[in-house]
Amino acid sequence: MTITSTPLSLFVLGKESDPQSERGVECPGDLPPASDPALVERARRAKAALGDRLFVLGHHYQRDEVIQFADVTGDSFKLAREAAARPEAEFIVFCGVHFMAESADILTAPEQKVILPDLAAGCSMADMARLAQVEDAWDVLAAAGVADVTVPVTYMNSSADIKAFCGRHGGVVCTSSNAKSVLEWAFQRGEKVLFLPDQHLGRNTAVLQLGLGLDECVVYDPHRPDGGLTAEQLAAAKVILWKGHCSVHGRFTAEAVDDVRARIPGVKVLVHPECQHEVVLKADLVGSTEFIIKTLEQAPEGSAWAIGTELNLVKRLANAHPDKQIAFLEKTVCYCATMNRIDLPHLVWALEQLVEGNVVNQITVDEETSRYAREALQRMLDLPGETAKD
Ligand code: 13P
Ligand code: SF4
Repeated sequence: MTITSTPLSLFVLGKESDPQSERGVECPGDLPPASDPALVERARRAKAALGDRLFVLGHHYQRDEVIQFADVTGDSFKLAREAAARPEAEFIVFCGVHFMAESADILTAPEQKVILPDLAAGCSMADMARLAQVEDAWDVLAAAGVADVTVPVTYMNSSADIKAFCGRHGGVVCTSSNAKSVLEWAFQRGEKVLFLPDQHLGRNTAVLQLGLGLDECVVYDPHRPDGGLTAEQLAAAKVILWKGHCSVHGRFTAEAVDDVRARIPGVKVLVHPECQHEVVLKADLVGSTEFIIKTLEQAPEGSAWAIGTELNLVKRLANAHPDKQIAFLEKTVCYCATMNRIDLPHLVWALEQLVEGNVVNQITVDEETSRYAREALQRMLDLPGETAKD
């Protein structure tokens, strides 16, 4: 029996501190005040001074004040590809979250430097699967006699060491835009999949895209002995879902879908696959951030939409399409707090430091982890059709 304890400790406020969970709370150097009216001009000037030495990537959930300085915007799949395709850039400034910057570091050359303007921009979902927990889970699968026939698949939203774990065990990375083809790839190589760390993306893809039954999916809870599963349950399952979720998308409810349909006649509900299964079942369309953007670009004038994804993106879409009625699916869901950590003062600070020759907040993944994580990422990037997708 394996009992996994969480490595996170709780401290009495103000008495002790955990440098891991508090990384980035202090910002080295002089962060410009958010009220500085010259911030936009300073960012422009710093970008111009760095020229081709700099490439700025921006995830769709970033604030408008930051996204205006991105050379490329995209979902996590597109941004990983873009980072890999910029060998000439000396500095890649990643306006997104920590796991994305790690992936960029893994996919770029050793001399290229990846910078995350605020180190506190993590991801609560990625933090829900720690390497020690996943190794324990693999031992549980081995004890049940199923590890040899299981392919580990991790969502991009996971730390580099989890990606490396998958690389080492013949597994692969997926994103919300290619989860179906990645799962098909995995089932060509094994009888079962261990899907990390987002149970919702795993379940939605397995059931709605691959046609598996809900009863063929089990949930492995890292906080329970043996994941809360018996050897018989593991033997019968096709997909072993890790008990993790997105703290933003997990909050959209099926009631909100009913409510918006009652309020807006003819509304089409479009949600991200990190939403709970009941929500996705009630929606009209489901897809990655890039899919959501393209769908609205192609939507007819006058059409009405309720969108279940991060608020920065939904607001931007509403502004970009004044000819369409675009609503946010659930009133009580907030911005992604960690995505929002990257603001204009942090971006200006990071860029100006680069101009002065100081590389701040560099994200580096050690060579051993990189090697195996790259294998898992590369398997995803090599899937037929993936390189041409946009
Ligand atoms: P995509 O951009 O891949 O759709 O992912 C959404 C997300 O939650 C990123 O953190
Ligand atoms: Fe993580 Fe969810 Fe925020 Fe994406 S939206 S960074 S998955 S918490």
